[in-house]
Amino acid sequence: MMQSGRANFGSKLGVILATAGSAVGLGNVWRFPYMAGDHGGAAFILIYICCVFLLGIPCMVSEFIIGRHAAANTARAYRSFSGGTLWGFVGYFGVLTGFLIMGYYVVVSGWCLQYVFASLMGHLHGSPEFFTNYFQTFEKDPFKPVLWTVVFMFLTHYIIMHGVREGIEKASKMLMPTLFVLLLVIVVSSCMLPGAGKGISFLFNPDFSAVNGDVFLGALGQAFYSLSIGMGCLCTYASYFSKQTNLMRSAVQISLIDTMVAILAGLMIFPAAFSVGINPDSGPSLVFITLPNVFQQAFSGVPIVGYIVALAFYGLLALAALTSLISLHEVSTAFIHEEFHTTRKRAALIVTLSSSVIGAVCSLSLGKWDGLQICGRSLFDIFDFFTGQIMLPIGGFLTCLFVGWYLPHKMVHDEFTNWGTLRGKFFHIFIFCIKYICPVCILLIFLHQFGLI
Ligand code: PHE
Repeated sequence: MMQSGRANFGSKLGVILATAGSAVGLGNVWRFPYMAGDHGGAAFILIYICCVFLLGIPCMVSEFIIGRHAAANTARAYRSFSGGTLWGFVGYFGVLTGFLIMGYYVVVSGWCLQYVFASLMGHLHGSPEFFTNYFQTFEKDPFKPVLWTVVFMFLTHYIIMHGVREGIEKASKMLMPTLFVLLLVIVVSSCMLPGAGKGISFLFNPDFSAVNGDVFLGALGQAFYSLSIGMGCLCTYASYFSKQTNLMRSAVQISLIDTMVAILAGLMIFPAAFSVGINPDSGPSLVFITLPNVFQQAFSGVPIVGYIVALAFYGLLALAALTSLISLHEVSTAFIHEEFHTTRKRAALIVTLSSSVIGAVCSLSLGKWDGLQICGRSLFDIFDFFTGQIMLPIGGFLTCLFVGWYLPHKMVHDEFTNWGTLRGKFFHIFIFCIKYICPVCILLIFLHQFGLI
């Protein structure tokens, strides 16, 4: 089924770094540390790691199997196996989810660029109120956030336009190592602060009394979002894998990188916050209001270090966002390029322009067009809620059923073992997880978040 002449990643390292680039994103830096801190520290981390291994990795391998076997965009991949049944729609659903996620993800990515610029220019210093005002004024500005959104979209466009090997792979090989270096610089600076030990023990002290059903469901939801499962990114990237790529091993390596970055993000935030006695918040206010203040206070003795750490932090966030956005863009670009028989460049431009418009509208819905609300939520929140809480779990759930129950067992086995060249030791565990454990757990989170169980 492999189409000859189709683009592919040139090396194993390219496969790992590009796919890890999709996984490592804003979710690792602002969501994971807070979730861990709030839900029992090391206890949450342990549960999270179990979710990654038992549920995340099997789902990732499933998407890899579909993508690599079909060697086509997500919509065509599912359609090609569906034999004209409704299963074909799962792929279209994935493409739509990816496209919508991009619409608000790019807005937050644009905010990161503004903060890179602001920290470079030395604008990020003042009283705690200053940081709150700064963010709120910026977020509601009718012009600046839209400009950064469009700039970010075109940055992504530039990389996508150069294709799979020269664009995505090359960029990932440069961006990911830079990201790791920045991460380490900040972790070391943060952990060396006086009083940092309290932050480290907050993160690593297992508090099993905080563990309840919500913690399991929170960990599972976080694992899916963080690993980019359920919306065609992994399937699209896998369509560029070679026949020699060991799917299971790659999934394990990518998940380990993603988890390590999430834990290191905690080590960057908590020690600094505890050393100045500020309680870390969650979501946008953590990254754009609390942390600039933390960095300023923590390094007030040597302001130049504070300046470098803030700049490194926003640079890191922008890079993490960029590599995730590339994967989101690629889902739609591959779809338009292959389904509408247009050139890759034109497909990329269509995606860039349309997502810039959606991003701009989402951004304006937080300020100038705040009347643009559905059920009392801004368009930005609606996109976030609808894609993350509804569409991603549905996509993940259907993919499990598709691979576990619908696809021919032999085909799944062939892909898993690279046509018998690998031993496939974990195949039976994989099939068991994908048939029973994953669908049941996803269904549980889904029902729980609506208060149905
Ligand atoms: N995994 C990314 C993150 O952690 C988010 C993402 C989700 C990216 C789905 C692509 C697809 O931020």
